Amino acid sequence: MQVGLKIWRYDSRSGDRKLAEYEVDAPEWACLLDVLDIIKDKHDGTLAFRKSCRMMICGSCGMRMDGRAVLACKERMQPIAESGHVPVISAMGNLPIVKDLVVDMGPFWDKIRAVKPWLDPGYDEIAEKERIVSQQQMNAIQKESLCIMCGCCVSECNSMESDPAFLGPAALAKGFRFVGDPREGQQVERLVELNGEHGIWDCTRCYFCNERCPKGVDPRDAIAKLGAESIKEGIDHDMGAKHAKWFVRSAMTTGWLRETELVPKTQGIVSAIKQTGFALGLAVKGKVPPPFPPHVADKVGEARGLYELVKRQGRRGAAGIIQGERALSRLEFGEEHGARRDSPEITPGEEPPAAGH
Ligand code: SF4
Ligand code: SF4
Ligand code: FES
Repeated sequence: MQVGLKIWRYDSRSGDRKLAEYEVDAPEWACLLDVLDIIKDKHDGTLAFRKSCRMMICGSCGMRMDGRAVLACKERMQPIAESGHVPVISAMGNLPIVKDLVVDMGPFWDKIRAVKPWLDPGYDEIAEKERIVSQQQMNAIQKESLCIMCGCCVSECNSMESDPAFLGPAALAKGFRFVGDPREGQQVERLVELNGEHGIWDCTRCYFCNERCPKGVDPRDAIAKLGAESIKEGIDHDMGAKHAKWFVRSAMTTGWLRETELVPKTQGIVSAIKQTGFALGLAVKGKVPPPFPPHVADKVGEARGLYELVKRQGRRGAAGIIQGERALSRLEFGEEHGARRDSPEITPGEEPPAAGH
């Protein structure tokens, strides 16, 4: 088949940048990486890109196709070639480009190192016996353990674009991989670190990392689990944590998000007073509903019932988020395909809820 590609070429030494177009003959089974190989072998040996395994496991071949991060060895080219579309290939975002499709992964590794990517059991002596961990316990961090460090999530991260110091989705998913490990002995210390500046609460919840991760790690979900674990441990000094707590409180009491109370509850009275002028401006334009009496939803009983149910089930912390993931997967795939009895179990022996609940 004939495959066309447009590739953004870049030379960091000269600063030259140009969009080069190639058309090559490739076998029907070719993936994007195969096509790049053909270009390099037969058409232009100066093209630079990274690769190793060619089987979606080493994480070397992250790049962008039509502006979204992909693994080049995962993208089949036949449907694209048959549609006549010529995709634009470029280097990943949020990382400095070295040459063509090769980025400097240094900042990525710095952040992975910053979350202490190894197990710290909290003691130095070597145990005499092997410590057995059940499959059920490990299921809680199964998704986060799938990360191949490709950087596709980082490439698409909204928050990193505005704050390059933000720890970012890959490092935070790695953080939960250890916070959620039953053998880890420094969970609280880790959570305190991850709640710091540029930590979990700086995520804008755009979900691009979930969407682009080629391995199903769902880093945004890992960040939500870290937030829930932090609140469970009483680490809730950050405005993000206060914000999340107010969402729950407001939904439970009135069935609505009471935005007028969000600022004082999240930022405190002093900060709220400083913003009085802004609030008055909004009120004059009719954009602030009167806070008293609070508007209560007709079916607020349902919201309260849901709150009570979750409370009774004791699914605090990451357990509640994992339960949510499981419910979503069941909605998506249906009972017969999505029963997933091997998915993370929170309460040993407890049956998963029926599909759709
Ligand atoms: S959800 Fe958060 S971590 Fe993920 S891409 Fe968006 S801002 Fe980044
Ligand atoms: S979380 Fe997914 S996208 Fe991000 S580095 Fe790991 S495997 Fe790649
Ligand atoms: S070459 Fe290893 S993941 Fe693509």
